[in-house]
Amino acid sequence: MSTTIVGWGKAVPKNVRSNAEIASMVDTTDEWIFSRTGIRERRIATEGETTFTLGRDAAERALTRARISAADVDMVIVATLTPEMPMPATASLIQDAIGASRAGAFDLNAACAGFAYGMEVARAFIDSGGARTVLLVGSETMSRVIDWTDRSTCVLFGDGAGAVVMQHVDHGGVRASSLGSDGSGSHLLQIAGGGSRTPVSKQTIADRLHFLAMDGREVYKFAVNATVSSAATAMARAGWSPEELDLFIPHQANVRIIKAAARRLHLGTDRVFVNAHRYGNTSSASIPIALCEALEQGRVSPGNRLVLVGFGAGLSWAAVALEWTMTVPTAAE
Ligand SMILES: CC(C)(COP(=O)(O)OP(=O)(O)OC[C@H]1O[C@@H](n2cnc3c(N)ncnc32)[C@H](O)[C@@H]1OP(=O)(O)O)[C@@H](O)C(=O)NCCC(=O)NCCS
Repeated sequence: MSTTIVGWGKAVPKNVRSNAEIASMVDTTDEWIFSRTGIRERRIATEGETTFTLGRDAAERALTRARISAADVDMVIVATLTPEMPMPATASLIQDAIGASRAGAFDLNAACAGFAYGMEVARAFIDSGGARTVLLVGSETMSRVIDWTDRSTCVLFGDGAGAVVMQHVDHGGVRASSLGSDGSGSHLLQIAGGGSRTPVSKQTIADRLHFLAMDGREVYKFAVNATVSSAATAMARAGWSPEELDLFIPHQANVRIIKAAARRLHLGTDRVFVNAHRYGNTSSASIPIALCEALEQGRVSPGNRLVLVGFGAGLSWAAVALEWTMTVPTAAE
């Protein structure tokens, strides 16, 4: 018995912000950004586009693809670090908007590892019999927590959403996972203000504590190590050798991180999915957006062995070994 993905969808803002545009805002260049990150452009939400609207649109597309009515969804999980508001959960807003009238709903925050964590939570619900159909959404508006005067972070992130519908399957599906956290590195990547420790005040705003802050070099080292070790652990638990992997879909934080991890896992570029150059780091949305695009590009077929890996603030990480089970319609179908 296992759990598989039966529907998928993504929603990204139409508005594209290029490196050149960012270079007109802060002291940077397209060449610096591309050489350090592999990012060329990212999507930025316009007024009216929020974590809720993007997540709702991705969720509806995933349900349509799965040919499942919202009324049949048992649980809505939204992985996000940029919720619509601190409360209620963005998941409840999406549950209501799509008409998932029987479903429970909650948000999950494991930062950029949130979607991969969510897959494991969905699997646990389904395997335990607590839910038959789980709608898992990763949705972020990182542009709303980025300090657009800080060149060391504002070049990295973007907005978007992806969603999957998960159900029981007899063969294939999620084979194994590897989840972890090291909270001793919490200060390396955080939004320090606006919570219980430092509630919002004029001072926290003057100190720019409502924006994301990061120690890029330390996070880089962590990211490569966490990606390699969690992917290797998930593959070992699934009984797969790296040679048997068909496609590696890592969190799209930075193309250099992805390439360094892939080298250590002995994966050639043909077995690694990359779209960070078009979207930047969309945090918990990056894996489902990448999965959707890998499917659209015909890079995934039934029986393929995939490893999805998320990593980020916490510090936290999660890898999922997934044997793909669904036939993927061609663009014409
Ligand atoms: C952020 C990152 C791209 C920076 O690349 P780097 O090669 O480590 O660069 P450094 O931090 O060593 O900075 C080198 C110099 O570039 C400067 N710099 C930083 N951002 C810059 C920018 N956008 N444009 C031009 N120069 C910049 C720095 O000020 C520094 O200057 P200094 O040497 O005079 O102090 C890299 O550390 C990284 O990708 N880290 C991981 C980030 C990440 O993925 N976070 C999310 C995880 S979910």
